[in-house]
Amino acid sequence: MGLIPQHFIQDLLNRVDIVDLIDSRVPLKKAGANYKACCPFHGEKTPSFNVSQSKQFYHCFGCGMNGNAISFLMEYDRLEFPDAVEELAISLGLEVPREETNDNKPKIDNSLYDLMSKIANYYSQQLKSANGKEAVNYLKNRGLSGEVAKEFGLGVVPDAWDSLEKLFGSFAGNHKLKQQLIDCGMLIQKEGDSSRVYDRFRGRIMFPIKDKRGRVIAFGGRVMGDGEPKYLNSPETPIFHKSNELYGLYQARKSNRNLSRILIVEGYMDVVALAQFGITNAVATLGTATTAAHLQQLFRTSRELVLCFDGDKAGRKAALKALEHGLPQLREGREIKLMFLPDGEDPDSMVRKVGKDKFEQLVERSHSTFEFLLKYLSGQVDLESVAGRGQLVHLAKPYLERITDPVYRDLFAQSIAETSGLAIEKIESLLSGSEATKTAPNTQPSFQPQSIKPRQIKTANKTVQLAITLLLQDPKLGLRFKGYDWLLSLDSSATKILHEILEIIHKNPTLSSGALLEYWRGKPLYSRLAELAMTEREEKVQGQEAQELSDCIQKLLKDARNHRLDSLQTKATAEGLSSAEKAEYQQLLLLSKQ
Ligand code: UTP
Ligand code: MN
Repeated sequence: MGLIPQHFIQDLLNRVDIVDLIDSRVPLKKAGANYKACCPFHGEKTPSFNVSQSKQFYHCFGCGMNGNAISFLMEYDRLEFPDAVEELAISLGLEVPREETNDNKPKIDNSLYDLMSKIANYYSQQLKSANGKEAVNYLKNRGLSGEVAKEFGLGVVPDAWDSLEKLFGSFAGNHKLKQQLIDCGMLIQKEGDSSRVYDRFRGRIMFPIKDKRGRVIAFGGRVMGDGEPKYLNSPETPIFHKSNELYGLYQARKSNRNLSRILIVEGYMDVVALAQFGITNAVATLGTATTAAHLQQLFRTSRELVLCFDGDKAGRKAALKALEHGLPQLREGREIKLMFLPDGEDPDSMVRKVGKDKFEQLVERSHSTFEFLLKYLSGQVDLESVAGRGQLVHLAKPYLERITDPVYRDLFAQSIAETSGLAIEKIESLLSGSEATKTAPNTQPSFQPQSIKPRQIKTANKTVQLAITLLLQDPKLGLRFKGYDWLLSLDSSATKILHEILEIIHKNPTLSSGALLEYWRGKPLYSRLAELAMTEREEKVQGQEAQELSDCIQKLLKDARNHRLDSLQTKATAEGLSSAEKAEYQQLLLLSKQ
């Protein structure tokens, strides 16, 4: 599907009223110019969640969540961006247009979802039929309740080569259906005679795998006895990508409005057993190790991920592997923890043995990322010796390097210092590798020549920031300023942003703050701009915004002129000026004396 055109997104944000939208989900109370409620994104007793009608923006002063109508739907209804846009469009009776794309991605055949859903229904009905006795007994023996089996849509597939043909009717005259069932991994073509097909899944307990939206996209099937393989999974198909999907995520999100923590386990049965015991926040990878895509996906839903492993050596190895993907994704407000079960137990057996409360205590006691890493790495060296402590630092280095967040990096360096007993400066020099280069002759010049500009003009960053803030808070103020391309001559990143904001405002004269911020969705600058958009203005300056903005722009204009004057002066001494430049110089000089 093509991209949603930006103008349509702006149109939506223009038409919808964020107060109505939020109020229909979280009742709001009027408070001054704004609306308030207890924040739906974190637990609180006094309301710090603010919705501004004029800005079409919400902001929680408690947890910092903020955004426009689209952001709210993404967070509150847990929708991906295109789905949130779709939802808004539907509520306004609009259809989402798509831009033509020329990528050659194969189109997903939506009817594959329908087929998978029909098959899942059929399997779960089989469980209730006379054929399902063995399966029901198996599930009962494993302690599964009827409710939880229903909640996860468990079923059974008859032990036959042609159950699907029985369900759908003969494939003889229906080539398209046959091909679709091959495409979604349910039928296999016979080797040597590809016109003949047979069922992939036979005589197994069936676990439907759902995507985030609850659509069945694949199956996992378990043998009821000791056969091989124990679990058979759907292959990769146009609608199923193993490394992105997590078993149980749909159910976890459905049973919890706020998933503050997600438990990542290994098996289908673990997820189902935990849910039966009321632990409804577990998901499982699908026979693969935890991937970066998994973690990314989960961090969109929750801020704390607890990875659950066996307590043996293999478990610790798997934990290290998972952290390789996890460390780069750490940043403020995100946490990855590790939990190790006693040898020979998995979450299924454990929760049945100790019950919900004890299991939850174990989760509470899980290790933080750094705690685990340092404990693990310390086990590899002799911390009693100086050499061992140095070695620890070197072992920790590759992990430290994977952390991109500066705060987390510092914290980890600090923990390394504490564990090794070495001073933090020593750690830093060991880590930066400067120890090795210290003795090498210093080839760098010991001093850098100063820039020799006659008069350094520093555009006051405060002025630019104030101008940006004023525009973010009330975009229409920008409409008064027509020619502003001179801003680009100031050559700072802040003035470039100011220029960009003015451009956007002139293209969309009716923009709200919330709609303006939409242009930075997903970009690093977003949170900084959102913060500026929400800063409370002091009472004494309220109502003076237009004047203030005009003052800022004047100041910047003056800077730009001085800048130009300087470069003309430099050129005059170096190579002389053309007559046009001379005239410009004269005029600038005049203006600068005003
Ligand atoms: P386990 O072998 O640990 O099984 O596989 P389990 O989850 O404890 O299952 P039960 O309790 O014996 O029924 C863990 C996960 O690894 C994948 C499956 O996703 C399984 O849930 N797996 C395992 C396979 O894909 N194929 C297999 O043959 C075995
Ligand atoms: Mn198990």
